Order: sequence, then structure tokens, then C-alpha cells
Amino acid sequence: MSTAPDTRLLKQVLATVDGDDPRLKQVVSALVTHLHAFVNDVRPTEQEWLAGLDFLIETGQRWCGPHRNEFILLSDMLGLTTAVDDVNHRGPDGMTPSSVEGPFHSPAPPRELGDWISSGPERDRATPTVVHGRVLDCDGTPLPGAVIDLWQANDTGLYDSQDDSQDQGNLRALLTTDAEGSYWFRTIRPSSYPVPTDGTAGRLLKAIGRHPMRPAHLHVKVTAPGYRTLTTHVFLAEDPYLDSDAAFAVKPELICVPRRRESPGDQERWRMDGPFEEIEFDLRLVPLDWTADDGEQTEERQ
Ligand SMILES: [Fe+2]
Repeated sequence: MSTAPDTRLLKQVLATVDGDDPRLKQVVSALVTHLHAFVNDVRPTEQEWLAGLDFLIETGQRWCGPHRNEFILLSDMLGLTTAVDDVNHRGPDGMTPSSVEGPFHSPAPPRELGDWISSGPERDRATPTVVHGRVLDCDGTPLPGAVIDLWQANDTGLYDSQDDSQDQGNLRALLTTDAEGSYWFRTIRPSSYPVPTDGTAGRLLKAIGRHPMRPAHLHVKVTAPGYRTLTTHVFLAEDPYLDSDAAFAVKPELICVPRRRESPGDQERWRMDGPFEEIEFDLRLVPLDWTADDGEQTEERQ
């Protein structure tokens, strides 16, 4: 039996891909081409192929619903969500890189600059933290009136939607930058946490010898008129999982070093009652009209 790839079959299938939508035709043709290459490379047995299909069936039927999408988790843990993010968010030097949104975003309560965004039991036990910085364009011009949507896990790695001890909206905020483009808020240090492991994605992680942990982080989504919306993470330095994030979302520019602050002067400046950690992070947005030197439109495919 020949081991050469069956290009005749591939050509036959590709010849059937037609329709009125040229983009769809491109996508389906590429998908078919890559899948045939996969089969010719891996040469799965029929039992292996059916096991793969059963894995996808179980993912959809048992682990997807109104409050959970296991396919997104699979996309995250295989680096595909980050790959899609990367090809769609190129920008100039100095921009804050984007990073995946993840599954835990929900509407946040508007708050004032300086507010505590932590009101659950974590406030009494976790490390008090001040987060501040500015929203700028890539040339360093401050952007007053930018809206920052924040969400984070608590010190046990749980979001409000996963934890009955937290009120809805806890550790979330909508903040608007001041006349200098500055923002600040008081919170607690978030913890690293595992992605859900009870479904098919967790089974696959275990089978390929990977841990499910995500390094400690804050999520931010920043909007300002005339600029691209920036969705990204702020990661805390020295987290043991920074080099092995289960979702492959870490980028060096997004890692921030929390600084320990104990002096009365620092406490007074940031309205804190004792020692705390300070996180400073500027967010640099890309103008809507920015294009790469090659002229490629990279924010949204036209
Ligand atoms: Fe998260």
C-alpha cells in the first residue's frame, strides 16, 4: 500500500467547495486542506478517529450550555484563542498588547476613582492592594474620560460568579480616567487559579501532562473615543505559573511587579490603613486609524 498523501481525494473535496461567500470558501478550503494533512500525518486508526469525534460530541452535549462553553476552554488551552488575538491586534511600538478576554467578564458597577472594589470576606484576609496608572495613546498623550472595565478573582482564585460568599459585582468596576488620564482603585491581591477540570478540556490537559493553572492577574478592557478597545490582562510578577499559563495569555509587557508599601506617607497618599502592595500599570491604546506599514487592516477584517 502506498504511504503517499492522497492528493486526488483532497482535490476532489476542494472542488466541491463553492458558494456566494468567498471568505467562507477560503476558510472551508483551508480547513479541509489542513485536516487532510493532519490525517495523512497522524494516520489515525478508525477507532482513534471515532474517539476524537466522541470527544467533540461530549464537549458539546455535556459541557456546553448557557453558562459554560467548553470549546472556548479548549481553544484557550491549545493557544488558539491567543493566536486569533495576535493576528487581529497588531499595532505600533509602545502599544499595550491585547490578551484574551476569558470567560468571566460580566457587567461591572460604575465606581469612583479610589473606591474599594472588594467588599466580600476576602477584604479581611487578603493582601490590600492599590492599583493605579494612566491611559495613554502610543505617543504618551493622556486620555481623559477613558472607561476602564475591571474584573478579577479573589485571594482563593474565585470570581463572584463562582462563589456564594461574594456579592455580584464584587471585584469588578467601571472607572473613568481623570483629566490627566489617570485611574486608581483599592482592592486585594488576586490569586492564581485553575481552569475548570471536570470536563473534556480538563481530561485532555491531564492526559497530556499539563497543569490547569493560570497565573494571578487582573482583567481590563479600556474604551476611549477614537481608539481601539483594548482587552488585556495585568499579570503579577513572580507568580509560579507565569511561564506555563494554561491559557497562553501571558506577554512580557503585561507583567507588573507589585511593590510593598509600609510608610505612613504611602498609606496617607493612597488612603490605606496599613501596609499594602502597589501595582502601577499604564495602558496604551492604538488609534482607530492606525495601519501597519504593509497597509493591512488588523483590527477587524473588512
Ligand atoms: Fe481571569
